Amino acid sequence: FPLRALNTFGVEATARAYLPVTDVAQLKAVRRDPELAGLPRLVLGGGSNILLTRDFPGLVLHMQSKGMEVTGEDNDATYIRAAAGENWHGFVQWTLAHGFGGLENLSLIPGSVGAAPIQNIGAYGIEIKDRFHALTIFDFETGETAVLDKAACAFGYRDSVFKHGLRERAVVLDVTFALPKQWQANKRYADVAQELAVRGIAEPTARQIGDAVIAIRTRKLPDPAAIGNAGSFFKNPVVTAVQRDALLAQYPQLVSYAQPDGSYKLAAGWLIDQCDWKGKTVGAAGVHDLQALVLVNRGGASGREIAQLAQAIRDDVEQRFGIVLEPEPVFL
Ligand code: EPU
Repeated sequence: FPLRALNTFGVEATARAYLPVTDVAQLKAVRRDPELAGLPRLVLGGGSNILLTRDFPGLVLHMQSKGMEVTGEDNDATYIRAAAGENWHGFVQWTLAHGFGGLENLSLIPGSVGAAPIQNIGAYGIEIKDRFHALTIFDFETGETAVLDKAACAFGYRDSVFKHGLRERAVVLDVTFALPKQWQANKRYADVAQELAVRGIAEPTARQIGDAVIAIRTRKLPDPAAIGNAGSFFKNPVVTAVQRDALLAQYPQLVSYAQPDGSYKLAAGWLIDQCDWKGKTVGAAGVHDLQALVLVNRGGASGREIAQLAQAIRDDVEQRFGIVLEPEPVFL
């Protein structure tokens, strides 16, 4: 089964078997099927955070379940559940159209609702853990569904239990968000504040913040429909204050952000840019012209080619700054 249309990098790869999933009964059937149960599994949503470096000798589960609804409320929050197969941006737009603020900073992030908690997607000062209530999984080990709360998901920066203990085991079926009754604009991120200032908006609504974020992302990030990519290809590395001070002494322009625990997050895009990779092309793989953190498929690139480019960038950044960059997408 061809996977090219199912990954936003647009690389060629095949899977041995493919199943579009709209109902948990299908997953139970897979688990009982003598042939399918033994195959390795790959769960795909929007395919926007994966690099396929080879063919997959197993079963692709393509989550396509749909549905969005308000499930309840209390003094603090409105609870809204969305099925794993919903498009993330479509869901954010739906919440804003229904008057629920809270997810607007996460507008236009590619991918699906079910994939969002896997890497705890984040942008412009908000991560989904900040708006998360619970999610339902199908557990291939027990054959049952289970509800996980925020603690059980062990969210970290672009990280969760689904990249560790529950990798291979859990399929996210739906996610419930708690959107705050006392909504407050989050415009701390400089890009957002600046965009609102340009628009002459002092007291933005959630909708207006969403529109500002859409404008910023559209300017800076390549549209996967036009040029294959998976957003940021590396995580922003976290270093100790000592490491950061040493680098800052050597590179006064270093971009870093203080973290609550005293460590610092460095802008990987800046590190890569300093190594002169922005806009470069190697074979059919390349580094985006406007954002060095984003690797792109300039047309016909293989996953291997993109992985090789990523390795060359990692080597350069390590040699120059002594920092090892960690990829953000999942590699197959
Ligand atoms: N920078 C450069 N050169 C570059 C790219 C960036 O000098 O080529 C500098 C910028 O000038 C800026 C700093 O690096 O001072 C940070 O850049 P930016 O604000 O664009 O954000 P980022 O660190 O590159 C992160 C997330 C994005 C998220 C934005 C906004 C990660 C790995 N990436 O990017 O998330 O949208 O912040 O919050 O944390 C994603 O995960 O796929 C993603 C796009």
